[in-house]
Amino acid sequence: MPDMSAARIANLYIHVPFCAQKCAYCAFYSEPSGGDLINRYVAALVRELEMVADDLKPKTIFFGGGTPSLLNFRQWEQILRAMERLNLLAAEEFTVECNPATVSSDKAKLLRDFGVNRISMGVQSLDEQLLERLGRIHTRGMVFKSFDILRHAGFDNLNLDLMFAIPGQTMAIWRATLNEAIAMQSEHLSSYEVIYEDDTPLFAQLQAGEIDVDEDLACAMYEELVERATTAGFQQYEVANFARDERTAIQSPDARPQNPIPNFACKHNVNYWRGGSFYGLGPSATSYVRGVRTKNWSNTQLYCEQLEKGKRAVESREELPPLSRAGETAAFGLRMVAGWPFEEFQRTTNFDLRREWPAEMSQLAGRGWGIISSDSFRLTPQGLRFADAAAELFLR
Ligand SMILES: C[S@@+](CC[C@H](N)C(=O)[O-])C[C@H]1O[C@@H](n2cnc3c(N)ncnc32)[C@H](O)[C@@H]1O
Ligand code: SF4
Repeated sequence: MPDMSAARIANLYIHVPFCAQKCAYCAFYSEPSGGDLINRYVAALVRELEMVADDLKPKTIFFGGGTPSLLNFRQWEQILRAMERLNLLAAEEFTVECNPATVSSDKAKLLRDFGVNRISMGVQSLDEQLLERLGRIHTRGMVFKSFDILRHAGFDNLNLDLMFAIPGQTMAIWRATLNEAIAMQSEHLSSYEVIYEDDTPLFAQLQAGEIDVDEDLACAMYEELVERATTAGFQQYEVANFARDERTAIQSPDARPQNPIPNFACKHNVNYWRGGSFYGLGPSATSYVRGVRTKNWSNTQLYCEQLEKGKRAVESREELPPLSRAGETAAFGLRMVAGWPFEEFQRTTNFDLRREWPAEMSQLAGRGWGIISSDSFRLTPQGLRFADAAAELFLR
């Protein structure tokens, strides 16, 4: 049972494990949708919400997947009404991930009416051939159309997800996608380099020698991303995340504010990177609550069966020793451009970065990947490009 004497948890993730079809690169847990299983999942999710509601007072909610926008109007209504009944709806930031092929005005309006105020759209590319190669179900036309539908429904905080270093993507194609995406004037932009995840068709193609990986091109594409996005008035606040800092104006780089975390940064993800607690519900979702990490079964059938029996669907539970936990927190936080202010790290973890990791910080500074200042440690632009390798040094 949750410890009700402690402050309630302020961040909630909900995993929707269905996609119309699986994309060639994707290792997130999801399966092709099946009508009845979705209804069963919705009922099970409502049960899971009921089990943790007393320990939650969400400031951020994030429905991810999978493809949350695949749920139909009635299924969304059922979930949102349950959340309303359980007093879970007054979040400051409430995000739903959408696939451009599954956005409709009636669903967009329903979400907006229940307090969803941020949509993250999986665009990946605006090149028709690459979209096909990636196994995406949407066309470039659907991206522009969905964006308009969402704006029309009143969403003033939209994110676009892009990918670079996609096999077959030239610098010219990447520039064209970046230019068009930036011209859409979203409030937020995320862009990850393609990861060859085990057990994906893309990985199999790599293994079979059908794909040439060009690291230099990937680096140049990342530099292009940072340059184009910041010139257009976005502020980079994490390795792959860019946001605007003002609600209205698109700013010139000269007028760029000093706020280390811009207004339109994804507050939900900032909580992850800052080592905060969160509940994760739905199949395969991870929770991190007061130092204990649990993970739900990555099997929707099993997830439903457990909840139908009145049990949580937890597959594993892990309580890390405090120093290991602090090391993970250090590693996550270094992905942010602001790095770790020493005092904030100490407040979060009870450990002092300068005491526990002086050698690692010096090593990174010596390589030109890190900057040690009087009150913080952060990665340089070059260090951010290799943030995973840099962060690994802090794990205990
Ligand atoms: C879980 S997906 C959810 C978005 C939604 N399902 C969609 O694809 O439209 C979140 C984002 O992660 C990124 N992503 C997923 N797999 C990736 C991979 N193997 N390499 C790089 N980025 C990836 C994509 O940009 C994707 O939009
Ligand atoms: S990228 Fe998104 S739509 Fe594609 S399989 Fe993964 S979760 Fe589903």
